[in-house]
Amino acid sequence: MNDISQFTAGITILEVTYVVASVLFIIGLKMLSHPLTARRGNTLAAFGMGFAIVATIVFHRKDGEPIKNIPLILSAIAIGTAIGWIIARKVKMTAMPQLVSFFNGMGGAAAALISMMEFPHVSPELIAESGMANGEVLAILLGLLIGTVSWAGSMIAYGKLDGWIGDLRVKAMKYVNLAILAVLIGMIVFIMTRDVQASSELTPLIYIMFAIAVVYGVLFVMPIGGADMPVVISLLNSFTGVAAAMGGFLYNNQAMLTGGILVGSAGTILTVLMCKAMNRSLLNVIVGVFGGGGESNIVAGGSIKEISLSDAAVLLSYSKKVVIVPGYGLAVAQAQHICHELDKLLEEKGVEVKYAIHPVAGRMPGHMNVLLAEADVPYEQLIESDEINPDLPNTDVLVVIGANDVVNPAAEDDPSSPIFGMPIIKARDARNIIVMKRGMGKGYAAIENLLFFNDKTRMLFGDAKGTLQNLVNEVKSL
Ligand code: TAP
Repeated sequence: MNDISQFTAGITILEVTYVVASVLFIIGLKMLSHPLTARRGNTLAAFGMGFAIVATIVFHRKDGEPIKNIPLILSAIAIGTAIGWIIARKVKMTAMPQLVSFFNGMGGAAAALISMMEFPHVSPELIAESGMANGEVLAILLGLLIGTVSWAGSMIAYGKLDGWIGDLRVKAMKYVNLAILAVLIGMIVFIMTRDVQASSELTPLIYIMFAIAVVYGVLFVMPIGGADMPVVISLLNSFTGVAAAMGGFLYNNQAMLTGGILVGSAGTILTVLMCKAMNRSLLNVIVGVFGGGGESNIVAGGSIKEISLSDAAVLLSYSKKVVIVPGYGLAVAQAQHICHELDKLLEEKGVEVKYAIHPVAGRMPGHMNVLLAEADVPYEQLIESDEINPDLPNTDVLVVIGANDVVNPAAEDDPSSPIFGMPIIKARDARNIIVMKRGMGKGYAAIENLLFFNDKTRMLFGDAKGTLQNLVNEVKSL
């Protein structure tokens, strides 16, 4: 009893606010898992973070002293908030992955800076007691290593997604990367086994470690290209979470620790799920050489058949079951609203309309869900590819709108294809296939798609928005 009261009395207001913030993070994260609650979940978690920041500024004490430099801290918060706000408002939906990568990199950089700032200040008493091999030094070094790799890697990922950095593939890269990683781990062991009076004696090593970790982060992401990029972004995201958690250990800050662990574990789960969706192994992701390297053997043959707007309107209107496969092109054309109008029109005519959602359709996880939610397409109409595939042989018309790789049969038929093994929407199983795209442009993986040459396929060329608008007019006029 006595113990409990002492424990209770020992809890500070700050610790209670951190627990509240952590609970808000967890509830927010849970709400993110459903499109209907995701927006509120995001706001809730952001509120939790704001709450933790304000509480830290007001209640934190070091040796009985409150936080100094308040004006500087508030100015930094104001500048960061303004920049973040403006960028987030301006960014196009299709450029969201770059933004995520950039913001993630900033988190890694913050963790690395914390480590660099704190390393020279490890308390000499702690070093006298347990040498450099203590938890505080380990948390600092891991925060530096992981945070720097995350920052450097995210910046390269940002450049690649934005199209101004290309792929660099050298066969020996895998071994070079492993060697650099071994050097970095060796440096951690070296620093932790030094016999010194003060950690500041080893500060130069910290800068060398930072520089090597930057090189590792760059080389780690450079060879990764094509369809594998989202996996690496998610992995780097989990790195940032782990690096932030190290800061949580260091400062004994529960909110930072919980936030970091949540980001780290959510990022890891997403990485694993995406690896599965793209048929990539996680080990290959970590050594930095995977996917996208092969040249497909497939050469397009056969002829392309087109369909007129009026024929397409008739075919759709007299179907029982229609499945729409949205892809990147739908997002680029911003055709989600008109697409929903078409599906409502068809449903009014008694046609059952579903959307087949591939986990990596578009350019970021959940891209199609967000896009269609924006147009108020009911969530029940969105069916994951695994679930809809068995139903496709009974589907009268499958309409591919601006999608390509996610319906490419090469993933099943061509072992030399870079997307071989990636689970796809088995579009060719449907009775009729209509493909809407502007021309014969390739998809993200830059490979030929034999679905377009299939006997059952007919092409409806044009920008997705304009084509859908014309199709809606045709359906209305029937
Ligand atoms: P893609 O394979 O990229 O194909 C999109 C197609 O849309 C293109 O072939 C293009 O053909 C067409 N298109 C472009 N603009 C259009 C417009 N205005 N109107 C009509 N069509 C238009 O798309 P997908 O099937 O959604 O596959 C996604 C790919 O991106 C996968 O390879 C995936 O691995 C990769 N990726 C995904 C993510 C995530 S997490 N979702 C992140 C990064 C990369 P035309 O030029 O002929 O019109």
